[in-house]
Amino acid sequence: MRKKLISFLSAITLVCSTTYGATVESIGNGYKGDIKIRMSYEGNQIKDIEVLEQQESNFTKRAMNQVINSIIETQNTDVDNVAGATYTSEGVKEAVRAAVAAAGITLSSKAPVQKQAVTITDTTTDIVVVGGGGAGLTAAIAAKEKGANVILLEKMPMLGGNTNYATAGINAANSKLQKDLKIEDSSKLFYDDTLKGGKNKNNPELLKTLTDNSGDIITWLTERGADITEISYTGGQSIKRTHRPTGGKAIGPVVVEALSETAQKQGIDIRTDSYVSEILKEGNSVVGVKVKHNDQTYTIKSKAVIMATGGFGANPEMVKQYNPNLQGFGSTNSPAITGEGIKMVQKAGGDLVDMTEIQTHPTVVHNNTAMITEAVRGEGAVLINRDGKRFINELETRDVVSKAELSQSGKSAFLVFDQGIREKLKAADGYVKKGFAKEAATIEELAKKLGIDPKNMVTSIDQYNQYVKNGKDTDFNKDILPKELNQGPFYAIEVSPAVHHTMGGVRINNAAEVLDTNGKPVKGLYAAGEVTGGVHGGNRIGGNAMTDITVFGKIAGENAASFIKTVK
Ligand code: FUM
Repeated sequence: MRKKLISFLSAITLVCSTTYGATVESIGNGYKGDIKIRMSYEGNQIKDIEVLEQQESNFTKRAMNQVINSIIETQNTDVDNVAGATYTSEGVKEAVRAAVAAAGITLSSKAPVQKQAVTITDTTTDIVVVGGGGAGLTAAIAAKEKGANVILLEKMPMLGGNTNYATAGINAANSKLQKDLKIEDSSKLFYDDTLKGGKNKNNPELLKTLTDNSGDIITWLTERGADITEISYTGGQSIKRTHRPTGGKAIGPVVVEALSETAQKQGIDIRTDSYVSEILKEGNSVVGVKVKHNDQTYTIKSKAVIMATGGFGANPEMVKQYNPNLQGFGSTNSPAITGEGIKMVQKAGGDLVDMTEIQTHPTVVHNNTAMITEAVRGEGAVLINRDGKRFINELETRDVVSKAELSQSGKSAFLVFDQGIREKLKAADGYVKKGFAKEAATIEELAKKLGIDPKNMVTSIDQYNQYVKNGKDTDFNKDILPKELNQGPFYAIEVSPAVHHTMGGVRINNAAEVLDTNGKPVKGLYAAGEVTGGVHGGNRIGGNAMTDITVFGKIAGENAASFIKTVK
């Protein structure tokens, strides 16, 4: 639950006057913590707003700027929030309201300047990419680098989609980083781990393509500015292959930032707030899309279309349709992930596969939608039930851990970690700062705070620490035992499962071509990322979504760029 708004008095830190007017500093409460601003004003007019400190995700920077520009333009703090960054938008507005009150000024609000409505005309390009998350950005860049003209369409006001929420990392075998760190991995081992985790339901061709190309995609991303320097584990892997940014930062925003900047530098035509309502066809060939922007509708003619619209994890109706057992579950997904792309492809003749395979993530803040990254368990956190006992190998695959949690009393569990993990993993530090965790100097005290028998919990943690020392967990056969939990303070977050990934979607081949119900490519139609199905089988391994969206995004972009050369 979001923290209560901080009090007005504590929000004000400084008011001062200069010869150029006056400034006031104040604080609002964003999604990840305080947003501190400095507002400059003259008379009753806001002249400038500068963000001095904030802990929000990188992807919300543009949202903050948008809110600030609207406030200055309208001299009004009741401006619209940016969709997908609601708490951040509210945090900025709260800070500005506090600053206005502290300055003692009365804003003379203006109506927004009526921008001259620009009529968007129908246009033509080589390739349209639908969806501006990690898969779409990768596809657009790959196509552009092969010489194609590209228009990228994103229905939200910001780029990034679900990739903005990706945390643990990106899995890869045979990467340069693994080699540098002397981690002996192979694409065959990666393939075998993923097939086992996917309950042997993965499409073997797609899986081989994913694992064979994984090492090179890390190089490709690094060359385009992504900071990827560390490696850890997620559940279901037999070796360290989850590549992540320095300090254990969340992978998604880092990759989105790097790819957005690359795409902009390359001059890709990026259009946000642009909703594709239809894929256009002539005969069996895709020839473009219909787009809605505000109240205008227009057509883009193209020789190829790449669908990268994500899955349907934020569409409760679709989730219920394909798996009624998940009715009423929360979702970790961006509100944009509503599955229209899948329906559009189906309407254009594409086949669907594995639609009933929907994954829950086992560590989502109970009665909330905030995901606690698997990387916390990868660093050694354990799950404790209300009897103070461990009940599962915490690094089992997500389906197994989710099921085990739901069979505990209260249908939730406590994710317990120590200061050592908090210091190693930026994300863990963020969860404590956001107020998700109970904190205590000792395990005994922590148990009391959780309402658990302290003796049981101390025994469980002592026993676990002994397993770490011995290198063998004889209770649950956990074979990844990175550290003892022995460095106070200790932390516990109550967690339960929520819908996280939809493994089913559009049927593709390993060239990222969309296939029809006869297994033939729909000419000119490509797809990549969570909009597709088959790669992950019956359960996705943590860290494999980032590999999927980038490996297949690149393949889709490159192949579409080759295909258009064959179209007259
Ligand atoms: O737990 C996580 O950070 C999620 C990773 C993923 O879904 O790949």
